[in-house]
Amino acid sequence: MKGIILAGGSGTRLRPLTKVTSKQLLPIYDKPMIFYPLETLLKAGIKDILIIVAPDHAGDFLKLLGSGQEFGCKFTYEIQDKPDGLAQAFIIGQNFIGNDSVTLILGDNLFEDDFSDAIRSFKSGGRIFAKEVTDPERFGVVEFDDQRRALSIVEKPTEPKSNYAVTGLYIYDSTVVEKVKNLQPSARGELEITDLNNVYLQEGSLDVAFVEGKWLDTGTFESLFEAIVFARDRSRAA
Ligand code: DAU
Repeated sequence: MKGIILAGGSGTRLRPLTKVTSKQLLPIYDKPMIFYPLETLLKAGIKDILIIVAPDHAGDFLKLLGSGQEFGCKFTYEIQDKPDGLAQAFIIGQNFIGNDSVTLILGDNLFEDDFSDAIRSFKSGGRIFAKEVTDPERFGVVEFDDQRRALSIVEKPTEPKSNYAVTGLYIYDSTVVEKVKNLQPSARGELEITDLNNVYLQEGSLDVAFVEGKWLDTGTFESLFEAIVFARDRSRAA
């Protein structure tokens, strides 16, 4: 299993915090944001990790993270020239992925869960993780039937069919690269991870698991603040 941390994008929603630095380098209590998704991958036993960054602050990521030796893993770096969508990570990473399965984690997502079992037991297809939230319209949303089987996934629906958001950790087999190559950009011009998940869903090979512990996406000032409080409480309790 290989890992990808997607840490590009322009961070426009967090201006002026992100005017001179990248969102994923902002402090979350005592560590830069990207340390949290990195620790999630390391905890799950993933040691071969591709870090995808935007051109502007690429050097800062290299300075912060280095070769990976300090973390007991190996880092590879790629640049995403423009934020053309989350699913583009698999095109950028196609040589890195080769014939292996891959776990993608967003560089601004904080998870309390340990994904070791979910990753170890993964064989083929796709596996995503849903979490009940109060503001589903901000996310990809899973619609379930009465047996809790996923029926569809909709990106930022104005009228969500459930309160279950798709969180920013995704496990796929190596067919992901070809699947993304066949996607069309969405109305907002991006290769959408939600479209990719719907391809796996239609193929009958998408497993929707659930996040049990806390999950925070730091896309707004409010959720960024919440993440800092969570990280402080966790650090104090440790
Ligand atoms: O956080 C989970 C959500 O992430 C999912 O529920 C949604 O289905 C998924 O589309 C995504 O929604 P966001 O609105 O959070 O996506 P955003 O455009 O903010 O991108 C998430 C992170 O990925 C952000 O830190 C920037 C980075 N990014 C984004 C794009 C579009 C890239 O590195 N490259 C990109 O091309």
